[in-house]
Amino acid sequence: MPGTAVGASRAIFALLLITLLSGAAAAKKPGEALSATEKGQLKNPHAGDKQAVDAGHKLFMSAGCNGCHGGTGGGGMGPPLTNAVWIYGNDDDTLFRLIALGSDDLAKAGYARKGTEAVVGPMPPFKDIIKSDDDLWKIVTWIKSLGATKGASK
Ligand code: HEC
Repeated sequence: MPGTAVGASRAIFALLLITLLSGAAAAKKPGEALSATEKGQLKNPHAGDKQAVDAGHKLFMSAGCNGCHGGTGGGGMGPPLTNAVWIYGNDDDTLFRLIALGSDDLAKAGYARKGTEAVVGPMPPFKDIIKSDDDLWKIVTWIKSLGATKGASK
């Protein structure tokens, strides 16, 4: 029935609008927390949260991280996120800043390289692509769920 279809799409539209508006109200660009917080002090509010892990994987895919790191984080043009080598470290603060700033600006912010992976270029900045701190933290939560950050894998 055409009438039903219109009703349904109106309902979907309204839902979408609510989602977008509530997202916009909560959204805070990742860059803001960076300059306001001292080195080493950013903490993941979603640490260990299973729902954030799944949401984080979706965001990882939609931001295009998989293009370089692979859909399951196994690596490609970029380093694997599943092995125990962490170029700049694997704490919350470092991972958040690396993803937001990219590797060149991370180095400028005083974060030194510690490990080496077979990579050909820099990690690009995502602070203008990922919508909010919250989304970026969910991505970090997913990366942490891969197990390598616990030192469990070889
Ligand atoms: C254009 C390719 C590319 C894209 C897209 C990309 N990365 Fe990277 N990423 C890299 C490269 C290259 C490095 C290594 C940088 C270095 O050696 O300084 C890296 C490093 C990393 C590391 C550190 C890995 C380690 O072993 O220490 C993490 C974590 C990471 N990226 C997460 C992400 C996330 C999350 C996204 C999406 C928001 C993303 N990357 C998108 C290329 C990419």
